Amino acid sequence: MGFLFGRSYVTLALMVCVLAPCQAKGALSTKFYAKTCPGVATIVRSVMARAVAKEPRMGASMIRLFFHDCFVNGCDASILLDDTPTFTGEKNAGPNVNSVRGYEVIDAIKARVEAACNATVSCADIVALASRDAVNLLGGPTWNVQLGRKDSRTASGSAANANLPGPGASAASLVAAFAAKGLSPREMTALSGAHTVGQARCLFFRDRIYTEQSINATFAAERRQTCPQTGGDGNLAPFDDQTPDAFDNAYFKNLVAQRGLLPSDQELFNGGTQDALVRKYSGNAGMFATDFAKAMVKMGGLLPSSGTPTEVRLNCRKVN
Ligand code: HEM
Repeated sequence: MGFLFGRSYVTLALMVCVLAPCQAKGALSTKFYAKTCPGVATIVRSVMARAVAKEPRMGASMIRLFFHDCFVNGCDASILLDDTPTFTGEKNAGPNVNSVRGYEVIDAIKARVEAACNATVSCADIVALASRDAVNLLGGPTWNVQLGRKDSRTASGSAANANLPGPGASAASLVAAFAAKGLSPREMTALSGAHTVGQARCLFFRDRIYTEQSINATFAAERRQTCPQTGGDGNLAPFDDQTPDAFDNAYFKNLVAQRGLLPSDQELFNGGTQDALVRKYSGNAGMFATDFAKAMVKMGGLLPSSGTPTEVRLNCRKVN
């Protein structure tokens, strides 16, 4: 019976393919703008190159922007919508407020892309390209970006609060948060390797440096110098204090040395299921780079649920 059901499903799918191109609705393609905006990748790369040269941390911020966009109803640029008196979006949700950066760089890219090809390239695709370039400009891998996303006309602060894991998350809840997005524990661990660049606020690693046992004593003492027990919530520290602006596998070497910055970072090497993989990545930069690139493509394939109203926004900060 099951076989019959299976066969009739295939037959139906084939019939649909005869009538329409054999592509799932919303499918992405690396060639999406080949005819309509062939220069888009070059524009994004050049603005990102300038931004990262001016401030390397901007590369890190752009990678995070992509993650925080994709984990909340798919990669749809929902995070870019400004709040208005009548609309509350994601920018001021807990994981994003005073924390996510890079909006002005996206604006600068969008202005140049609009000048070259008006009303064609979505803000969501710009974020996907910009984050790929950020990784590569900081010395990490590159990959072909799947394109053709649309921008949502909605955003959800409550979904941002619910879907994005926090710095106190346990290994099990990290696995669960990524599983909820169809990403495996291995992909979760690879993607976490983005914490080889960028910075975090004292507020988020204070507990770790004052209360946790699983921490290198010298590292804890260093971090305490600029992250007091009270006050200084906004004081920044690099995730990786050896090569803070290099997209390498140092994050995993740090975890093995119990020099993870956030409690959630060290959770990936704390006697649990991800230890073996962390050890592999710490000794094999190429394996990490390959897995990271693949996982970014997969995360980039998260699309808004059907029924979400979408468009190609003209200004990434507001609906058309
Ligand atoms: C696994 C769960 C994750 C947790 C709990 C987490 C949490 C955090 C926190 C608390 C910060 C510091 C924010 C601040 O101080 O304002 C941060 C920064 C950052 N995160 Fe994550 N993150 C996770 C996964 C990821 C993923 C998957 C990526 C990208 C693929 C990513 C990329 C970054 C980057 C690059 C920064 C530094 C940003 C900057 O310097 O502007 N994170 N993350």
